[in-house]
Amino acid sequence: MSKIIAANWKMHKTRSEAEQTAKEIAAAIRSASVPQDRTLMVFPAFLSLPVVAQALKECPKTFVGAQNFYPKDQGAFTGEVSLPMIKDAGASWVLIGHSERRHILGESLSLICEKTRYALEHDFGVMLCIGETLVEREEGKLKAILSEQLKTALAPLADLPKATLATSLMIAYEPVWAIGTGKVAGDSDVLEAHALVKDLLRFPNIDLSFVPVLYGGSVKPGNAKQLLSLANVDGLLIGGASLEAENFLQISRA
Ligand code: 13P
Repeated sequence: MSKIIAANWKMHKTRSEAEQTAKEIAAAIRSASVPQDRTLMVFPAFLSLPVVAQALKECPKTFVGAQNFYPKDQGAFTGEVSLPMIKDAGASWVLIGHSERRHILGESLSLICEKTRYALEHDFGVMLCIGETLVEREEGKLKAILSEQLKTALAPLADLPKATLATSLMIAYEPVWAIGTGKVAGDSDVLEAHALVKDLLRFPNIDLSFVPVLYGGSVKPGNAKQLLSLANVDGLLIGGASLEAENFLQISRA
């Protein structure tokens, strides 16, 4: 299967900086220095979506997504951004449930559930992020937490068309303790969690175990190859190391 290499630029880069990085990525894709069996995704900040989408428009197997949205088409939701606005900016995917939104911005399981259905019903691809905190892991709650995060967001989707679920859904497993800390999860942690996620995706009412599962958390050019070689790791979601085009491209060649 084609491995997915996704960049989450978080709250980094002005519009011109984002455009420059996207142009560097596009040039590498055009010169065929990214392997053809890679799918690339870039999630810039809202304001940079149009320039990044424009820069990557002609690139095959390359998608642009937003880091967030509000699940209404329009209305009195001060400060929020809707999917029609994001579509108009040229993006077709959204991140949902990133740990920074769950833990810093206080997004609830029910909002994440609502957003997941809403995005899929509005023809957006969804990368659903899940992961446990260090305390949860140390308390032996890994399975319970992942199960709760997956079940609340995905089990209610059984009525959606199979084709939508098959093409428009990805999971990113990002242990919170490995995000931005330099502490990449060890091979055994990743193997255990990814096998668990695949298993948990077999809901009684719908089997979603075919959905790609990416790993995220302190991925760097130096550890990407090893992570991609692990069973059930279908790709990588990269924060800090995706900000420099050259690092991101190196990871895409891992
Ligand atoms: P880092 O790669 O900076 O650890 O961030 C991971 C992440 O949160 C991607 O969504």
